[in-house]
Amino acid sequence: MRRVYFDNNATTPVLPEVFEAMRPYFLEQFGNASSIHHHGQETRAAVERARESVAALVGARPSEIVFTSGGTEGDNFALFGLARPGDHVITSTIEHHAVLNSAKRLAEMGCEVTFIPVNGKGLVDPEDVRRAIRPNTRLISIMFANNETGVVQPVEEIGKLAAEADVYFHTDAVQAAGKVTIDASRIGCDLLSISGHKMHAPQGIGALYVRKGTLLQPMLYGGSHERARRAGTENVPGIVALGKAAELAKRGFDDGSIAKIAAMRDQIERRVLETIEATAVNGSGAPRVPNTTNIYFDFIEGEALVIALDLKGLAVSTGAACSSGAIEPSHVLTAMGLRADRARASLRFSLGKQNTPDEVEFALALIPPTVARLRELSPVYNKRQAINY
Ligand SMILES: Cc1ncc(COP(=O)(O)O)c(C=O)c1O
Repeated sequence: MRRVYFDNNATTPVLPEVFEAMRPYFLEQFGNASSIHHHGQETRAAVERARESVAALVGARPSEIVFTSGGTEGDNFALFGLARPGDHVITSTIEHHAVLNSAKRLAEMGCEVTFIPVNGKGLVDPEDVRRAIRPNTRLISIMFANNETGVVQPVEEIGKLAAEADVYFHTDAVQAAGKVTIDASRIGCDLLSISGHKMHAPQGIGALYVRKGTLLQPMLYGGSHERARRAGTENVPGIVALGKAAELAKRGFDDGSIAKIAAMRDQIERRVLETIEATAVNGSGAPRVPNTTNIYFDFIEGEALVIALDLKGLAVSTGAACSSGAIEPSHVLTAMGLRADRARASLRFSLGKQNTPDEVEFALALIPPTVARLRELSPVYNKRQAINY
């Protein structure tokens, strides 16, 4: 059975070039990067080369890159590394749970936390951030691109006002890396997290940009790895893979691969909206990363549509989280003002470098009949049809 994967915001396949780059570091070049002998020197050099590639991707100096186990660790490190009881922290209502739940934990630990709302397009208003700043504000954490809608936040404006107020600024750039150009110095952020598995490197590797001079309290204690910022023997194959993926990601802005992804995403949006009634794009009108579209299909349970499409070979997702057997509508979509039923009727299509226009055609042939069949089963849809005629 043919399978097409349009859930690249959940995770991406490792690209063959990335896999080939990391392979020797499992087999021949296995040394501990802290060892002083030949084997250690070999892996140390590989780690430092990867650090340069990652730094180049985000507009940083290599010494400002700390390798982590992924986006969740980077986000936790940024928040718990800076905020102390009594501090005020500003974040938004649409953050990934890696930031949202860290912020909630900070509140339990005695921080004051402000959650900034978003407008109907899913955008934070920098003026709301400015107004929220207090004398004890220590940190602002606003994501670069949202994982569910792809909406890109005005991070440069927020960076500017954070600098004016002398407040630290962290941005979760996990869903931005490799999709839009990132320049940490232009954003003016102090901390920026990325994750390997969202950009065709393996799961379990990531990096945190820590601007020179930012004193972060470590989360892990042990050896003096990563300039004593993150103890633990480095994940050399993962780091090498992230370096390679960063190199390819940077190249993608010039070699047409990002433009190709954008064209495929636009094609999905156009055809779905043209051929299926009562659909629209969540976050349309806002700047968005080129690989993501989040579309609501009124009168349908998104979860049912995901399952029906999966049975036919197409993998997509909802932003919904299943907790205690009940499907909660996405916190991102409800924060944008969507009714709960519309949020539940929303699906995310997210593309990656491995996807092809032929796969888009495969998906576009499946989606309309699947939606039609589910709507036939929907009492609300049928009632609406009856009223219309
Ligand atoms: C915006 C965002 N931040 C953080 C994370 C967590 O990254 P990781 O899976 O590498 O821990 C994700 C993953 O879905 C994400 O989309």
